[in-house]
Amino acid sequence: MLILGIESSCDETAVSVVKDCREIKSSVISTQIEEHKKYGGVVPEIASRRHCENILDVTRQALDTAGVTLAELDAIAVTYAPGLIGALLVGVSFAKGLAMTTGKPLVPVHHIAGHIATNYLTHPQLEPPYLCLVASGGHSHIIEVVSYTKFKVIGRTRDDAAGECFDKCARAMGFPYPGGVHIDNASQTGDPSEFKLPHPKVAGNEFDFSFSGLKTNVINLIHNSQQKNIQLNYNNLSASIQKTIAEILTEKTLKSAENLGYKKIALAGGVSANSGVRAMMSAECRKRGFDFYMPEKPLCGDNGAMIACQGSYNYLAGITADESLNAIATLSMEDI
Ligand code: KG4
Ligand code: ZN
Repeated sequence: MLILGIESSCDETAVSVVKDCREIKSSVISTQIEEHKKYGGVVPEIASRRHCENILDVTRQALDTAGVTLAELDAIAVTYAPGLIGALLVGVSFAKGLAMTTGKPLVPVHHIAGHIATNYLTHPQLEPPYLCLVASGGHSHIIEVVSYTKFKVIGRTRDDAAGECFDKCARAMGFPYPGGVHIDNASQTGDPSEFKLPHPKVAGNEFDFSFSGLKTNVINLIHNSQQKNIQLNYNNLSASIQKTIAEILTEKTLKSAENLGYKKIALAGGVSANSGVRAMMSAECRKRGFDFYMPEKPLCGDNGAMIACQGSYNYLAGITADESLNAIATLSMEDI
């Protein structure tokens, strides 16, 4: 079975061919980061235009690298939600055109389900059910992966996502967009004990996240020191931010696993590339006797292989769409 996966929900135009659900035959990513860097964040209008310019070439490269023709594909999978609406529309419209001209089935994929699927590409033995923490630029979710295609949201962020918190703190320190990786790098030589940062209190569902308090605390710390002309040690501050975010994510995920009786835990999303989060989740899971899975680093950020992989499982479960498929900016995983 050969599935083409198309991803255009944010600032990466990515297309991949995946064989038999888990074997990556090709994965081509055209990133727009350099262009958005100038503005300190993703400019939706620019993102849509670049997807439009790049999608055909990226698709050709993915097919050529895989040595696969359009006729040999079993289905065409595409991210239809959630994300920037104009960006999503480019991928969805392109996929619909391809499906129409080739007569191949069209398979809709939820972006977060795609991130979760990066673990299938990395760990051949992993199968549902398990609990997955998805932390990215737009989402922080604890998800019960009931089956390959059925998901239950156990906790979600009330405000900023973990990646957003990394990026906004990084911006306040003058690091370029996207700042998460710069905080990660600066942390390597930093002392995480210099700054004591707050862990949020969340009323109601104890497995929901909140990162806006931490972000505001860090931004105030930086602005106050700038007003007093005091230069903070940004390596130490980065290490403190990274440790605090890793603690919040790890504590809530492991506690919810204990509550629900899960022994298998996975990590996914752009923030799963963070060395502090990877190390803390691994160490705590080992200590408490959980099996722990995380994607290999190149699969942590947005890519087409995760959409082709999840698209394969959707296709096998009979989840297909017709020409009425539309892009949706906000859509809970429970509504797919
Ligand atoms: O999953 P992703 O590529 O896009 C979304 O679906 O949002 O995630 C991007 C996010 C950004 O916030 C980026 O700063 C963060 O993942 N990120 C990291 C690291 N690498 C990427 N955050 C912390 N440390 C990293 N090494
Ligand atoms: Zn993503």
